[in-house]
Amino acid sequence: MKFTKEVVDLIKNYIISNISRNPNQITQQTCDHLGITKPTVLKYINELGRDRIIEKTGSNRYPKYRLVKTKYVWKYSNQDLEEDVLWRNDIAPLLKDSNNNVKDICQYGFTEMVNNVIDHSQANKLITMLTLDCLDIEIWINDDGIGIFRKIKNALGLEQSSHAILELAKGKFTSDPENHSGEGIFFTSRIFDEFAILSHKLCYTDFGHTEGLIEKGILWEKQEDIPGTSVHMKIEKKSNTQLKDVFDEYADPEKDPSFHKTIIPVKLMEYEGESLISRSQAKRLITRFDKFVEVILNFDGVTQIGQAFADQIFRVFPNKHPEVHLRMINLTKDVENMIKRVQSNK
Ligand SMILES: Nc1ncnc2c1ncn2[C@@H]1O[C@H](COP(=O)(O)OP(=O)(O)OP(=O)(O)O)[C@@H](O)[C@H]1O
Ligand SMILES: [Mg+2]
Repeated sequence: MKFTKEVVDLIKNYIISNISRNPNQITQQTCDHLGITKPTVLKYINELGRDRIIEKTGSNRYPKYRLVKTKYVWKYSNQDLEEDVLWRNDIAPLLKDSNNNVKDICQYGFTEMVNNVIDHSQANKLITMLTLDCLDIEIWINDDGIGIFRKIKNALGLEQSSHAILELAKGKFTSDPENHSGEGIFFTSRIFDEFAILSHKLCYTDFGHTEGLIEKGILWEKQEDIPGTSVHMKIEKKSNTQLKDVFDEYADPEKDPSFHKTIIPVKLMEYEGESLISRSQAKRLITRFDKFVEVILNFDGVTQIGQAFADQIFRVFPNKHPEVHLRMINLTKDVENMIKRVQSNK
């Protein structure tokens, strides 16, 4: 049977979009999903292979397929580097055919993360990587410096490196206030489809999707300590995200175009199974809230909070800082009742 170009594109797109999730069953899956025969699917798999969009990795008997990825690596010693020069010389020429919104996002993320290495990492080496396949753009920025979580822990005198993740999630944290404003990671983590920072045994990941999931050593326990800092950013070539829209989300473009609003995943505080009960935990959460006009506390995944924790955040803090507007989302009934209880003591 001869298919129209639209149908051929649909079959090929189905194969391309599902191949990573199902590398060894993609032929059967495509037959079942689209109701076409195996020889037909194999014909298009072969065409995609011939065009170097996908490649076969398994044996002829047990074939496996994956998207063809092209990887580029650049190594620098961290001396007299300028992030915009690296962007222009290394990355930009390889993305010249990408959509403008995606190019803008990659430029922002790349230059912000490379600037962080130059200004904050104390690293000797910088390694940048770019991977392209027919769906996605991935960028890695790796350094062999002090490590981001340690840097923040030292700057704030935190008890544990893991507490640094909360400060990054809030935004507006910088260890160098004279020269920086603490916006780079906050916005970069929200404009990409996937974003992760790895340093030693900690990984801060998935902000865009699940707002601050932490995996400590789980993903990486078979690996050695990751020295320095490694940032991974991924975006679909077809992404519709606009840099400006994300900036505007945390500002009021009409009245105050500055970064003045944040959303904090309270679940981050439950790290290592801690229940949210004490005043000192609450103080850790509200540190630097007064730098924002609006703070949205996302209680997704938090089922209970204690009285002292709630009192500090919802009675003591608003009495001291009436100018900061606190808003809560995703409350369970129990959490909501506890907040109402402490607020009734005003
Ligand atoms: N590669 C790194 N190595 C060590 N510390 C880092 C690294 N990247 C970031 N940091 C730490 O994380 C903080 C927050 O970084 P972020 O990019 O969000 O803000 P900033 O660089 O301070 O300010 P801005 O990006 O607005 O110029 C930095 O101030 C620094 O303390
Ligand atoms: Mg920065």
